[in-house]
Amino acid sequence: MYKQNAEARIKALADKKDWNILAFETSCDDTSVSIVRNGRQVLSGCISSQIEIHNTFGGVVPEVASRKHIENIGLVLDEAMRQAGMDYGDIDAVASTYGPGLVGALLVGLNAAKSVSLSLGVPFVGVNHMEAHVCANYISSPKLEPPFLCLVVSGGHTQIVAVNSYSDYKILGQTLDDAAGEAFDKISRELGLGYPGGPYIQRAAEGGDPKAIPFPKARIKTNELDFSFSGLKTSVLNYIHNNKDINVNDVAASFQYTAVSDLVSKTMLAAEKYGYKKIALAGGVAANRLLREMLGAQASKRKKELFVPEFEFCTDNASMVACAAYYKLKRGLYDDLSMNANPALEIGEV
Ligand code: KG4
Ligand code: ZN
Repeated sequence: MYKQNAEARIKALADKKDWNILAFETSCDDTSVSIVRNGRQVLSGCISSQIEIHNTFGGVVPEVASRKHIENIGLVLDEAMRQAGMDYGDIDAVASTYGPGLVGALLVGLNAAKSVSLSLGVPFVGVNHMEAHVCANYISSPKLEPPFLCLVVSGGHTQIVAVNSYSDYKILGQTLDDAAGEAFDKISRELGLGYPGGPYIQRAAEGGDPKAIPFPKARIKTNELDFSFSGLKTSVLNYIHNNKDINVNDVAASFQYTAVSDLVSKTMLAAEKYGYKKIALAGGVAANRLLREMLGAQASKRKKELFVPEFEFCTDNASMVACAAYYKLKRGLYDDLSMNANPALEIGEV
């Protein structure tokens, strides 16, 4: 029944000008539902954040995240439909992130999307969360098209990705240990600032000297485009533990400057090496002001065009998931209702 309905709907879409996609995102601690038209026009985007709850634990507690998603998802869906002024009959496909992320959290969005698609008789589309982060750029920059290079920096990932088409992603370099966002989060916690760490470190850094403490940059012997943040993280944590009177602003500024310069120099190196003229930023850490400024300055110096998503599309949101689903659907692809969550899904993996 599902397959026949989905196939019939896919055929009907060929003659339809506007495709409205309803999407769910529950891979971590945000419950988000969006409705997006033709991949790039956001009709509604609702997010229920769990930050306050997880902040009391100093990080995301997976079981708590799943329970909050199940409580909130119906309400967020209802609000997204209301804000878009839509009937369920206007929805052409339903999408959800299926990985990477926390398995219990992913299952909530995945199951909600499958249920809605089954009851509406429209295709269900599973989306790779990291590809969705890249797609956030299509929403913020309506004219952007592949090929381009994308620096994907989030709480769990740090990757330089070649985006050669809407479906062809290749990792050129990535972290060998911690993700950049993870280092921001751990150091923020150690400084007693709060969760998630990025915005707190950024704020503290504004009052500090980025050259005050010379934290070491990682030296990678294998791939010059790979990253390593565990050495930097340990050296910042050691500095905090071994010094009685630390200047929190200087520590935050020096750490942020060291991490960001490394991200910027390797991204530029990759762009030169592989001849990309367009560079994009994606993921939660892409909200970082210094990263946006330094990458912008380097890009214009080397005559590259930089694309940066608006802040609301950098961190987790369902609009980017709807956008990724649109390009999958455009290729006639949709998924079976047996699709499972894949917590360790890689970018470019099917
Ligand atoms: O993409 P995201 O919302 O969730 C994941 O898929 O991981 O990224 C969350 C990460 C966290 O580590 C958070 O500290 C970081 O993004 N982040 C920032 C900033 N805003 C969020 N890092 C640096 N500067 C920021 N302004
Ligand atoms: Zn994310």
